[in-house]
Amino acid sequence: MEEIRKMKTAVIGCGMISNIYIRNLKRMFSIIDLAAVCDMRQESAEKQAQVYGIERVMTMEEIAADPDIELVINLTPAFAHYDVIRQMLLAGKHVWTEKMLTTDLEKGRELLKIADEKGLYLGVAPDTVLGAGVQTARNIIDSGLIGEVTSCVASVNRNQPLNSEFFRFLRGNGGALPYDVGIYYVAALTALLGPVEEVQAYGMPAPAHPAEMLSMNGLDAWRIPGNNLLAGCMKFKSGAVGTVHFNGNAAGEEKQLIYIYGTKGILRLGDPDTFGGFVKLTLPNAQEIDIPMTHGYDGKPLADQPDVIDLAYGHRGIGAAEMAWAIRGGRPNRCSKEFGFHAMEVLCGMDEAAASHKPYALTSTFEMAPLQAGYFCKNGSLPADAERSLMA
Ligand SMILES: NC(=O)c1ccc[n+]([C@@H]2O[C@H](COP(=O)([O-])OP(=O)(O)OC[C@H]3O[C@@H](n4cnc5c(N)ncnc54)[C@H](O)[C@@H]3O)[C@@H](O)[C@H]2O)c1
Repeated sequence: MEEIRKMKTAVIGCGMISNIYIRNLKRMFSIIDLAAVCDMRQESAEKQAQVYGIERVMTMEEIAADPDIELVINLTPAFAHYDVIRQMLLAGKHVWTEKMLTTDLEKGRELLKIADEKGLYLGVAPDTVLGAGVQTARNIIDSGLIGEVTSCVASVNRNQPLNSEFFRFLRGNGGALPYDVGIYYVAALTALLGPVEEVQAYGMPAPAHPAEMLSMNGLDAWRIPGNNLLAGCMKFKSGAVGTVHFNGNAAGEEKQLIYIYGTKGILRLGDPDTFGGFVKLTLPNAQEIDIPMTHGYDGKPLADQPDVIDLAYGHRGIGAAEMAWAIRGGRPNRCSKEFGFHAMEVLCGMDEAAASHKPYALTSTFEMAPLQAGYFCKNGSLPADAERSLMA
């Protein structure tokens, strides 16, 4: 068999989430050759290069001009995504980006158009939908075990103003709870049930963050932009309906839920902001039972050099690796630009519906094939054969 050519990759954005990305990209995915890191703050890139043993620290311009670098992984905050993605696509690079694609539908459309025109791949997080939890649930739904899915419900709460004291990017566009966290729920529901046709919603902004609550002195008060609470309804193309409740103006004791209701059974899923969680099944006249995971990438830490960040952030990077395999295989990637744009349009559409008091009809759609079942990270330890599920 011809040897698979590894994909030379650069990470742009060396903040908090880059830790788990870099660790996973270096250890878990044989298709990726992580060659360079970059950050507008040179010292951040230098630190990550030193900590994780990455050969080169480069500027965006150097990455753009380097013909060997095929893939760029964008880990900058949402408000910086458009500029970074655009520059890299125009330079001829495939791009994987953290969520959200952009904070603005028009800019998102423009990026999709550039990628299409240049024949480049653009993949969009959250890649938690490729984790064991969502893929196992998809397997159950596709098998018909819960019959025809008629509805779903999803809810999550956080104290987002308080969180924005510590995670400063939450103060910018994309920092409101529906965008920062609700996106994981929308992505999970659409990965399970397919595209949405129409949404309706009510919204509420975040309160102004009072200066006296600041953990650091000398900063002005701020307000997280946009609706920090969305209570919305979705009509899926399949005919199913769903409700979502993303409340960033609540106590920080996070309570989350996802239920999928079918004509023959009910599924309950764990936190879609993780890769594993749980999948529980209730059939008529039976107790709720745990479904064993049918897929790998359950977010469990690797055995070599286990670290607390593995536990919290799981198998991030799987979406970029799956895209690299898709590029080599000449097939569509699963967390595609169409999927990322659609998830974003569901949320932007709810914002618009909340403002206009009218339903919003979605303009976008997507297709996502499930990952093949039966490939696992053996004993939660080494990459083992799980990567095989990303190859086709
Ligand atoms: N922190 C989390 O828990 C988490 C989890 C999942 C996803 N994400 C997503 O990952 C992304 C990054 O989050 P983070 O927590 O690492 O943020 P961060 O603020 O810790 O890091 C972002 C980095 O990007 C750099 N940067 C900003 N603009 C840039 C530009 N134009 N060019 C080059 N570098 C630039 C900053 O200097 C910073 O080092 C966001 O999209 C976020 O939604 C974060």
